[in-house]
Amino acid sequence: MEEKEVIPKIVVKPPGPKAREIIKLDDEYISPSYSRYYPLVISEAKGAMIKDVDGNQYIDFNAGLAVMNVGHCHNRIVEKIKEQSEKFIHYSNTDFYYPQVPELAKMICDITPGNFQKNVFFGNSGTEAIEAGFKLARWYTRRSRVIAFIGGFHGRTFGSLSFTASKIVQRRYFFPLVPSVTHVPYGNCYRCAFKLEYPDCGIWCVGFIDEMVLQKYIPPEEVCGIIFEPIQGEGGYVVPPDEFFPKLKRLADKYELLLIDDEIQTGLGRTGKWFAIEHWGVVPDILCLAKGIASGLPLGATVSHKRIMDWEPGSHSSTFGGNPIACVVGQEVIKVIEEEKILENTTKQGNYILSYLNELKDKFELIGDVRGKGLMIGIELVLDKKTKKPARKETKNIILECFKKGLAIITAGRSVIRICPPLIIDRTLIDKGLEILEKAISIEEKKRRPPIK
Ligand SMILES: Cc1ncc(COP(=O)(O)O)c(C=O)c1O
Repeated sequence: MEEKEVIPKIVVKPPGPKAREIIKLDDEYISPSYSRYYPLVISEAKGAMIKDVDGNQYIDFNAGLAVMNVGHCHNRIVEKIKEQSEKFIHYSNTDFYYPQVPELAKMICDITPGNFQKNVFFGNSGTEAIEAGFKLARWYTRRSRVIAFIGGFHGRTFGSLSFTASKIVQRRYFFPLVPSVTHVPYGNCYRCAFKLEYPDCGIWCVGFIDEMVLQKYIPPEEVCGIIFEPIQGEGGYVVPPDEFFPKLKRLADKYELLLIDDEIQTGLGRTGKWFAIEHWGVVPDILCLAKGIASGLPLGATVSHKRIMDWEPGSHSSTFGGNPIACVVGQEVIKVIEEEKILENTTKQGNYILSYLNELKDKFELIGDVRGKGLMIGIELVLDKKTKKPARKETKNIILECFKKGLAIITAGRSVIRICPPLIIDRTLIDKGLEILEKAISIEEKKRRPPIK
């Protein structure tokens, strides 16, 4: 796919004949547990553009689910994959050594918050990074319990799923999960679980954990840590108020609980900083990352204080974790983000999108809230700005309409449109994407408010 091709370009109404054929095959052989949004069948991708198997070209506001931060098929990444795959492809970092692993670990330690010596554990995915973080927290503290947040998403394996609380369907019929997890409301000011108003609330969502949970029925000396996303992703792109994390940190210090920061979606520049928690100046004890770290290759990492990550040999490892190709790609991703000034682009383009959307919020009844940091932006759609009833059907219709017009964009939570393009996206593509999105919202808005005759 050429970078200069004109997009979006719809040459055949999607799904075209080739896409339909592949979807038929997929329907026959693939687990129906996946939750596809629309029939987009990819054939090529470059930068912030994707092409389907029938030749339609789309602007990508998904980044392969917040993964392709440096853009699809970045030349330097493709080169590294070729180079390393000609040397060796696998040799189990669990049992032997190779340089790609500690070299990447060093680079990760240098960019993660905290000016202290750190160690890194490599797995293959987000959920594995969480499993490792959780096991480490238990191992280090010898405590079993965890505090997690309602609306949080941390993965789908049993440990991670026990913390995940963003959609019923992810948990239904899978109980019993890992015991000893207590879920509490997140700092969600648009939909405060306590029906309080910020800032008069005094950040009661954190006060509640102390006064109503740890002082009433969960002995803090049995809790190993608090797991959180700095911005809830799957739960609806929820940005907590500014005082939330500093207050949570004070609470963790009070009871010596570890802060386990899930940066799987927010990390590697997504919010305009290397890690989203940096927006609040809080240093977590354990930080989990995946998605953007290896530009689409499977890699997860759990980073912690050397003092904490001192578990014994054999206590945790992974055959594939720290794959050499994924690790050289990880190194290149970090270099590309630095050298191409991608954090700066993320902040600049993100601020532009936020101000554009904030104007739309006044124009459209459907838009209840606009929020985000960097290129992690949510538009919450409601049927009524007062009752805030989620506009589920309308949200679905909007992303379908966008897809038909050449913009790949999906939802989060119940009725939030999420914008998370590759971080290298430029103003031209953003403007074209926003134009399609605005039109799609206006179609839904008109359906709800027919013109007065
Ligand atoms: C915040 C967060 N944590 C964990 C995960 C799980 O990652 P994976 O799907 O790689 O297991 C995700 C995936 O969307 C995520 O967004």
